[in-house]
Amino acid sequence: MTEFTPEIQHRVQQLRRSLQQAGYAYYVLDAPEMEDSVYDRLYRELQDLELAYPGLITPDSPTQRVGAKPATQFNSVRHNIPLYSLENAFSLEELRAWEDRWRKVLENAKFPISPRETPLYVCELKIDGSALALTYEQGILVRGATRGDGTTGEAITQNVKTIRAIPLRLDLDNPPEIIEVRGEAFLSLKVFDQINQERQRMGDALFANPRNAAAGTLRQLDSRIVAQRRLDFFAYTLHLPQTSGFTLNSQGEALELLQKMGFKVNPNRQLCRSLEEVQTYFEHWDGARRQLSYMTDGIVVKVNPLDFQETLGFTQKFPRWAIALKYPAEEAPTQVKAVTIQVGRTGALTPVAELEPVHLAGTTVQRATLHNRDRLAELDLHLGDTVIVRKAGEIIPEVVRILVELRPVEATRFQMPTHCPECNQPVVHPEGEAVTRCINASCPAILRGSLVHWCSRNALDINGLGEKLVVQMIQQQLVRSIADLYRLTVEQLLTLERMGQKLATKLIQAIATSKHQPWARVLYGLGIRHVGSVNAEVLAQQFPTVEQLAGATPAEIATVYGIGPEIAQSVYQWFQVPVNQDLVESLKQANLQLGIQLEKQFQDADPSNPSNSPGVTNLNSGSNSLAFAGKTVVITGTLPTLKRDEAKQMIQAAGGKVTGSVSAKTDYLLLGADAGSKLQKAQELGVPQLSEAEFLKILKRY
Ligand code: IVH
Repeated sequence: MTEFTPEIQHRVQQLRRSLQQAGYAYYVLDAPEMEDSVYDRLYRELQDLELAYPGLITPDSPTQRVGAKPATQFNSVRHNIPLYSLENAFSLEELRAWEDRWRKVLENAKFPISPRETPLYVCELKIDGSALALTYEQGILVRGATRGDGTTGEAITQNVKTIRAIPLRLDLDNPPEIIEVRGEAFLSLKVFDQINQERQRMGDALFANPRNAAAGTLRQLDSRIVAQRRLDFFAYTLHLPQTSGFTLNSQGEALELLQKMGFKVNPNRQLCRSLEEVQTYFEHWDGARRQLSYMTDGIVVKVNPLDFQETLGFTQKFPRWAIALKYPAEEAPTQVKAVTIQVGRTGALTPVAELEPVHLAGTTVQRATLHNRDRLAELDLHLGDTVIVRKAGEIIPEVVRILVELRPVEATRFQMPTHCPECNQPVVHPEGEAVTRCINASCPAILRGSLVHWCSRNALDINGLGEKLVVQMIQQQLVRSIADLYRLTVEQLLTLERMGQKLATKLIQAIATSKHQPWARVLYGLGIRHVGSVNAEVLAQQFPTVEQLAGATPAEIATVYGIGPEIAQSVYQWFQVPVNQDLVESLKQANLQLGIQLEKQFQDADPSNPSNSPGVTNLNSGSNSLAFAGKTVVITGTLPTLKRDEAKQMIQAAGGKVTGSVSAKTDYLLLGADAGSKLQKAQELGVPQLSEAEFLKILKRY
C-alpha cells in the first residue's frame, strides 16, 4: 500500500469535513453555502487522494455514498427492535376513543398521569414513503435496512448511503456505541414526476405514487441508479442504549436530538396539550399539505413523555402511544363508459377506463389508467361498472376498486384484445411480465410513438412537430421511419390538413436545425428502453460514435459509470434488431447526403465554448473525430493546401483507410486539381467526391 504523509492525511480529513458540512447545508438545512463547482473540485481532490492512498478511505467519506458495483441480492436482517406499524383513525371521535384507551392502560398500571411540564402530545406529519432503520456504531452508519415485515427486513446499506439527508457520521463528540434511527425515505413530488415522465417516454410502467417509487428505488440492486433518483429522508424515531449518557424525556426532545446529530427532521411538528390542539393542527395540514413538496397522507399523534410510552408499550402490531389520523382520501365513485387501449412507443398495450366525468382533487377526471392485464384481472372490470377513482397531487388518476354491488346485470367483462388495435397483428405476453405487447415493428402506433419521442424537447427538440402532425404524416405515408423526416419537403407538408406555406417552411427548418443536436440527444431520441436523457449523456461520453456503441458487448457497456447490467443489455439488444440497424444506417446516410451542414456536423458539443454550436446527428463522428471510421478513401490530384501524406495521416487518425485505386469498396474520392483516371473510375462507380475544403470541414479543421 502506498505510504501517505501526515500532511496528506490531514488534507483528506479537511476535505471530508468541508464536503460533509457543505452537503449538510445543502441537503438537510436546504441552505446551500458552497458553489457546486467548488464542491465538485474538492470532491474530486478527495477522490484522487483516496485513489492514490486507498488506506485513507473510511466508510463515512463523502465519496462512499455510491457503490462501485451493483449488488446481486440483499441480505435479510432481523431488527433488534421490531418496526411497528401505526393504528389508523379517521375522525376526532376515534382519536378520543384512543385517548380513553391509553389513559385507562396507564390507570390500570397505577401510573400517575398528573399534569406535567411536558406537553401531552407531539404531532408530526405522516410522510408517505418507505420506513428505514439505520444503525450507527460509534457514530458511523453501518447498516440501513427496510422495514420488511417489521421483524425481518433487507440490508440495503449501500442504497441508504446515497441519500444525502442521511449522515454517514453523526455530529456528536462522544457518540454512543450503538444507536438506531428510524424515519421515512421519500421522493419529492418533483422528482417523482420527473421519474414517471421519463418512464412514460421510455415506455416503462409508471409508478402509481411516490411511495411505490421510493420503495422500488430502495430495492434497486444498483446503488448508482438509486443515487440518480435523489431520495430524501426525515428521521422520527431514536433508540438509544441505556448507557448512552443522554437523558431524553420526550419524543419532542428525541426529535431535537436527532436534528442536532445531523438528521433532517420534519420542521412541521408541533407540541400539543390537548386533542383540541391536535385537531387544529390536523385541519391546518389537511389544507396546507398541498403546498408541501412531498406527499403526506395524514398526521401522526404521539404521546410525548417517554415514560408514558414505556408503560404503554405495544399491542401485537401497534404502539399504544401513537396513532395516525388520516386525511380523507381523494377518491370518488364514477361509471366506466368504455375501455380503450393505448399502444405506446414500445408496443405496450395500456387499458384506459373512459369515465363519466367526475370532480376530484380540483380537476375533472375523464380517464383513468387500468395499468395492465394483471391489474385488469385483479379488478375483474366489467363495462358499466361503478369504480372508485383516485387522484392525488400530480399523479395520473387510477381505478382503485370496483363497487361490484352496483354492477348492471347485463354488464360484460372487459378482456384485453388478442390483436393490436392499431395494426391488427397478434399481441404477445412476455413471460414474467404483466405487459401485453405488440411486436409488429411496423405497427403505426410504435412508429407514431417513436417519432413523437424523437421530436420531443429532450431529444431532437423539433419545435412544432407534435403528435397530431405525426399522425397525419403517417396516414399520408410521408414518413415510414425517423430518417424519412429528413427527406420531407415543404411541398409534401403542404398536402397535410391546415398546413400553409409559412408553417411548412418553419417545420422543415426546425427539422433541419435538429440535425445540429448532439449525439447524446440523438441517442436518447432513439428511444432505447432504459436510456433516458441522463443515461444517454453518460453513454455518449463513453461511446463517442454510434459504431462504437453498436459494436460494444453488454459487459463493455456496463463498465460505464451509472449504467447497470439491465440498461447495458437493453442497449445491446436494441442494436441487434435489424429494423434498428436499418434506422441507424439511414440516419447516417441522411447525415451525409441530405445537405446537413457539415461544419457543425462534426463539431463537439462544448458548452464552455459558446461559439461552438452543438455537434449534429453525429452518428458517424465523435468527440475524438472518428469521422472516417471504417471508411476507405482514395486521394487523387493536387490538393490546394495539403500534401497527400498529410491528408493520408489525417484520414487514418480519423479511423479511415487510404488505398491507391478506386473500386466498388471505395467510400470517398478526395479530389484535387488535375485528376485523371481515378476520377473517371469514381464517376463510373458513383463514388462520392470530397473537395479538400469539405474534407477539412469533416475533420473540424478549416
Ligand atoms: S412513527 C412505532 N412517525 O407510517 C412508531 N411513522 O402507517 C411507528 N410514517 O410504518 C412509526 N411518517 O413508515 C411514524 N412521523 C412519522 C411517520 C411515520 C410516516 C410511516 C411509517 C410507519 C407508517 C405506518
